[in-house]
Amino acid sequence: MLKIALAGSTGMLGIDVGAVLKGANFQVRNFNSKNMDITVASQVETGIKAFNPDYIINCAAYTRVDLAETEKVKTDAVNNTGAKNLAEAAISTGSRLIHISTDYVFDGKKKTPYTEDDEKNPLNEYGLSKLKGEEAIKNSGASYLIIRTGGLYGKNGNNFVNTILKLADSRKKIEVVNDQFITPTYTKDLAYALSEIIMKDNSKNETYHLTNGGHTSWYEFAIEIIKVFKRTNTEIIPISSDKLNRPAKRPHNSILDNSKIKEDFSISLRHWKDALKKYCNDIGYFIR
Ligand SMILES: NC(=O)c1ccc[n+]([C@@H]2O[C@H](COP(=O)([O-])OP(=O)(O)OC[C@H]3O[C@@H](n4cnc5c(N)ncnc54)[C@H](OP(=O)(O)O)[C@@H]3O)[C@@H](O)[C@H]2O)c1
Repeated sequence: MLKIALAGSTGMLGIDVGAVLKGANFQVRNFNSKNMDITVASQVETGIKAFNPDYIINCAAYTRVDLAETEKVKTDAVNNTGAKNLAEAAISTGSRLIHISTDYVFDGKKKTPYTEDDEKNPLNEYGLSKLKGEEAIKNSGASYLIIRTGGLYGKNGNNFVNTILKLADSRKKIEVVNDQFITPTYTKDLAYALSEIIMKDNSKNETYHLTNGGHTSWYEFAIEIIKVFKRTNTEIIPISSDKLNRPAKRPHNSILDNSKIKEDFSISLRHWKDALKKYCNDIGYFIR
C-alpha cells in the first residue's frame, strides 16, 4: 500500500484529497500547521522521516491573496520556504513530491490559455511566493510534480461559490467583476485526478496545468451559480476590477491550457458547468 504524507490536510483542497486517497486505499498521514509547521525545516524533517512516505502531497499554502500584500514575510515562509523544506525532506526519505501551485504565477496579459512554459510574471505577493516555491522545488534535486490549478471551490473552505450563495441570502444585487477570466475548478475533481496521477505516475519531473474544462468570467460564473442553486431572486451586476480596488492585483486572463496532462496522463476534468452541478448535488443547497 502506497504511503502518502498530506501537508495542508485541513485546507479546502486537502480535506477532499485526504478523503479521496483514503477511499482509494492509500495509507494517508495528515499534516497541518499544528503537527508540522512547514516553515520550520526541523519539524518537516522529523515529521516526514517518521512516516517515510512514498509521496508527499503539498496542499499547504498561505492563500489569503489580499492580506499577502502586507504579510509578505509569512507568505514567503509558507509558500516558498515551506515548499523548499518539503522538497529537502523528500530527498532525505526518497519520497516523490506533488506540489500544488497556481494560475497567479502569470500576469494574465496573454490572449489565449497559458501553457506550462509560458513566461511567469506574478502581479501580487501571493503569486510571487508560489512561483519562488515552484523554483525552490525544481532546484532542490527532489523528485517532483508541480500541478498548477485555479479558481478552486469546495465544501470545506471560503470560496467564490459559497460567498455568492451567502450574499444571495441577504442581497437583491451582487456586483461581480466581468474582466477577469478563469476556469472554476471543483476540489473533488482535482482530488480524484491527483489519485489517478499517482496510479499512472512515470516518475518524471514535470509541471502540469489542471483545471476543470472550459472557461468563464467571475461575472458569468456568478450567474451560473445563481441559476444552478436556484437563487434567481438575486441579480448579478457586472463591474470592472478597477472599481473593486483590491489590495492585490489579479490577472485578467487566468485560463490554463490543460493539454499537456491530457497527453501524458490521459486526464481531463469535466466542464466547469458540469462540475458546478455536481457540487450542488454534493452539498445539497438546491433543496432549500
Ligand atoms: N483556493 C484557490 O482558488 C486556489 C487557486 C489556485 C491554487 N491554489 C492552491 O491550492 C492549494 C490548496 O489551497 P486551499 O484553497 O485548499 O488552501 P486553504 O484552504 O487556505 O488551506 C491551507 C492549508 O495550508 C495549511 N497551512 C498553512 N500554513 C501552514 C504552515 N505554516 N504549516 C503547515 N501547514 C500550513 C493549513 O493548515 P492549518 O489549518 O493548520 O492552518 C491548511 O491546511 C494551495 O497550494 C493553493 O496555493 C488555490
